[in-house]
Order: sequence, then C-alpha cells, then structure tokens
Amino acid sequence: MLITRGVLGLAVVIVTCAVHVPVTTSQEMKAEPKASSTLAKGGQILASNCAACHGIDGKGSERAPNIAQGSNAQQLSDEQLSRIIANGIPGTAMPAFHSLPAEQVRELIAYLRSLEGTGKTAKLPGKPEDGKAIFFSKGGCSQCHMIAGQGGFIASDLTEFARTHSLEQVRSAIIEPSTGRKGPVGLATAILRDGEKYVGRVRNEDNFSIQLQSLDGTFHFIAKSDLEKLEYDTKPLMPNLASTFTEKELNDLVSFLISASGNRNPEHSAKESEMDNLED
Ligand code: HEC
Ligand code: HEC
Repeated sequence: MLITRGVLGLAVVIVTCAVHVPVTTSQEMKAEPKASSTLAKGGQILASNCAACHGIDGKGSERAPNIAQGSNAQQLSDEQLSRIIANGIPGTAMPAFHSLPAEQVRELIAYLRSLEGTGKTAKLPGKPEDGKAIFFSKGGCSQCHMIAGQGGFIASDLTEFARTHSLEQVRSAIIEPSTGRKGPVGLATAILRDGEKYVGRVRNEDNFSIQLQSLDGTFHFIAKSDLEKLEYDTKPLMPNLASTFTEKELNDLVSFLISASGNRNPEHSAKESEMDNLED
C-alpha cells in the first residue's frame, strides 16, 4: 500500500511539473511538519467522535474497521477521507459528520496520517543532522561507507540499509558489527608469484581470476595462475565502535541512517511493515 501511494505521489509530481501547476495547491503535498498541537487536537477529535467504533488508536474494533496503520483508509486521499467523514458511508453504520468544522476535519486527517506513519512526524531517537556530522567526521564511517552518493566504497552503501532493517537492527549493526547478517568481513591479501602484494576486498572470483579492490579504490585483476596465495584477514574490517560513542551520539547516528533511507516507520523495517499490511 505504501508502494502504491508512493507511485501515485510520483505520478502527481510528474504531471504537476509537466503543466507547471503550483504544487502547493494540493493539501497532501505540503511539506511543512504538522505542529504537534494540531496532532493533539486531532487525537481529541478522534477520541470524542470516532473512537467508540474505530477504537481509541483508530486500529478498529468489532464495530468498525482499522482507519490507522496498515488500513484501507491509508489509500484514500485527504479529499476522499474528508468526504467520507462529512457524508458517512450510506447503507453502513458509518455516520455522517456534517457539522464537524472543516478545521477539525483537517486536524483529524493530520492525526490519522501520523498514525499511518506517512506523516512527517516519524519518531526518531535522536537528531539526524547531528548524526550526519558524526558519520562524515568524528565517526569516520564515510571513510568506508557511502550514503546518498557521498563517502567511501570499500564497505557497503548504507543509503537503503535502514529501510529494510528495524531501528534495533541498525543500532546493533553499528555497535556489534561482528553479529551482522554477513558476519565478519576482513580484508584479503593477495601475494603473487613474482612477490607483488595487494591488499583489499575481493569483489569477484571465478575459476581463473580474482578481482581485488584496494583501499584507494583501484581494481586489480589477478590471474589465478599468477597467484602464490590469498589470505583473508580474520579481524573484521568494520571497527567495533560501541565504546567510542555516547548514547546520544549513537541515537543521532541511527536517526541519520533512518532518515537517509526514507523509512517513515522506524520501529519496523520496510519488510516487516509490508508483512503487517498483508495480514490486514
Ligand atoms: C457508529 C460507529 C462509527 C463511528 C462513530 C465512526 N465510524 Fe467510521 N466507519 C464505521 C463503519 C461500520 C465503517 C465501515 C463501513 C463499511 O462497511 O464500508 C466505517 C468506515 C470508515 C472509513 C472507511 C474505512 C475503509 O477502510 O474504507 C473511514 C475513513 C472512517 N470510517 C472514518 C471515521 C472517522 C474519521 C470517524 C470519526 C469522525 C468515524 N469514522 C466514526 C463506523 C463508525
Ligand atoms: C574501516 C572501514 C569501516 C568503517 C570506518 C565503518 N565501517 Fe561499517 N562496515 C564495514 C564493513 C566491511 C561492513 C560489512 C558489510 C560489507 O561491507 O560487506 C560494515 C557493516 C556496517 C553496517 C551493516 C551494513 C550491512 O550491509 O550489513 C552498518 C549499519 C555499518 N557498517 C555502519 C557503520 C557506521 C555508522 C560507521 C561509523 C560509525 C561505520 N560503519 C564505520 C566497514 C567499516
């Protein structure tokens, strides 16, 4: 469902760009963060008008369906939602709320969107901007990792990492690197018959050759017939950083990885929330 919304959103952007319609005419495209007072009011409106049937958290009851996370309502546009609220759904128990002022309907919708996790209010444990500074300087992460096209190439590109991993998984990938999904990854040393030596990561290997990338980025193609031996360093390349960060720095770093990946629901990985949606 998230994917459908994303694709629709993209289509809207493309169309509006093509005809030069100002994007701000659409409620949904507004990028400014929803003020928390708006959300608090929206929560109260839900509690007093909708919760009796849809549950206090909007997740549904035996009387009415889920209108929060992983629900059908998530696919509806703001316009469609406000029409349902104003007119109800004829022939069902969903009543019409004609007399709810437009302002309150807006606050209610903002609140429902924040429950979906598609609002701009994703809860992060720290500050992404501070985490970015750590990533590119003090933490030294960018010597090995790239994010959004900036940084090193000897270790994996982390741009997408937090989209498919939960907040806890991101945190432990940083402080317990040797338990990661790929296990410890060390450097390899290739010693050739003529005595020449290359240190780097093996990027490719077949029956006849290996391809080694050294730390300066250069690729070396080595014929196996020229190879005297290939040794893997048992010490993982990813340093163990648990003790070098304060709790705040770690939270900031995790928040940076999450916001860079566009994961709006960081309690879960994208994979997990796809599963949630399927269950509904
Ligand atoms: C008296 C019970 C009741 C109340 C109160 C109520 N609803 Fe509903 N609502 C329902 C029922 C039942 C349905 C399912 C209708 C159907 O069968 O399609 C529904 C459906 C919906 C849907 C469509 C969901 C979907 O999956 O298509 C939305 C959106 C919705 N309600 C929003 C609200 C909001 C917002 C409020 C409060 C302003 C509210 N409802 C109050 C009973 C209620
Ligand atoms: C000396 C190089 C190096 C540095 C510095 C480094 N890492 Fe890593 N990191 C690695 C390697 C190697 C892996 C294993 C994954 C791979 O590249 O194959 C890894 C794995 C990870 C993973 C798991 C990604 C995956 O694909 O499994 C995360 C998250 C991570 N590092 C974050 C960080 C952060 C944050 C910092 C800075 C605080 C950092 N790393 C510093 C080399 C490094």
